[in-house]
Amino acid sequence: MRTIKLFKPFVSWHAVWNTVKVLRSGQLAEGPKVREFEEKFEQRFNTRNVLTVNSGTAALELAYELAGIGKNDEVITPVLTCTATNLPLIHRGASIVFADIDRDLNISIEDVRRKITARTKAIVFVHFGGNNRGLQELLDIAREKNIILIEDAAQAIASNFWGKADFTCLSFQAIKTLTCGDGGGLICKDRTLYEKGKRLRWFGYDREKKQKLGDTDLIEAGYKYHMNDVSATIGLGNLRVFDRILAHHQKLIKEYGKGGIIAHPWFALVLVDNRDSLKKYLFEHGIDSGTHHYRNDKYTIFGGRKPFTVMDELENKYLLLPLHMGVTTKDVRKICELVHNFNEIQKSN
Ligand SMILES: Cc1ncc(COP(=O)(O)O)c(C=O)c1O
Repeated sequence: MRTIKLFKPFVSWHAVWNTVKVLRSGQLAEGPKVREFEEKFEQRFNTRNVLTVNSGTAALELAYELAGIGKNDEVITPVLTCTATNLPLIHRGASIVFADIDRDLNISIEDVRRKITARTKAIVFVHFGGNNRGLQELLDIAREKNIILIEDAAQAIASNFWGKADFTCLSFQAIKTLTCGDGGGLICKDRTLYEKGKRLRWFGYDREKKQKLGDTDLIEAGYKYHMNDVSATIGLGNLRVFDRILAHHQKLIKEYGKGGIIAHPWFALVLVDNRDSLKKYLFEHGIDSGTHHYRNDKYTIFGGRKPFTVMDELENKYLLLPLHMGVTTKDVRKICELVHNFNEIQKSN
């Protein structure tokens, strides 16, 4: 029996073929393909000031640096997210203030409001599964209170509302909807910060201005966060078919909806009392599912567990279901039926 994985990389034939050519070209490092990927990305998504980097985590790190987040600055961030959202804040010595989630697993706006203080430097909005709910409200709050808003849109490329905050961080990691193998993107609202980001992603000097180490003075301590031409070529090849990827994801979301299951652009989601049993039941029928991300306060590095009303209630209830190019509408109908059957069995027991 075929098993449908929870996540599966999708690589187009354009990406495969063009990557072979780049691998044979002698130009693997950062070069024209990176520039082309940035240009085509900006055109496709009607955005500007896009800096490609080598991971979504690097994009977040760079955003926090450009936002000037430093020691003891309070940053409000969701308790449930990929640890990559929050680990770079630890490196900066920032004071992480976790906010609870709502029942759709996105950050609770009400809890954010409660946790804003005079020391709040930034708020991080995570599109969990690509879900946009709450972003507009946080944009309004951030504007009103003069707080920096950072969007962690690592899972959101296939959703229709991202790139609105002061900084938007994207991931092109292997299992993301648009993959470069590994890679990330940072979109800066401010052009000057974008220019600074361009320098910081490459040790502290601007490669596009043909600056070179040795004949350029370094006045900022940069990083080695840039993308390379191999990753950019994979990204370009997948970008060519992105409309097809998007249409497929939207078809699956609709199909899940028909079956009574909420689906976001990157995964579908159920809340169940007996999660382990459902996971096992689905797996026995060839469907992989999982939790993938965990409440971050379970890790010592973030200071240990604290009470959060909704997170505490849902901690053992949320289960993510597959939604990617390797899933068909027929598969979705089967998943919905299995979940429905499981619920019926539970009720009768
Ligand atoms: C919400 C979120 N933020 C950040 C990241 C980090 O992205 P990357 O793996 O490209 O570093 C991920 C990756 O899974 C993510 O899901």
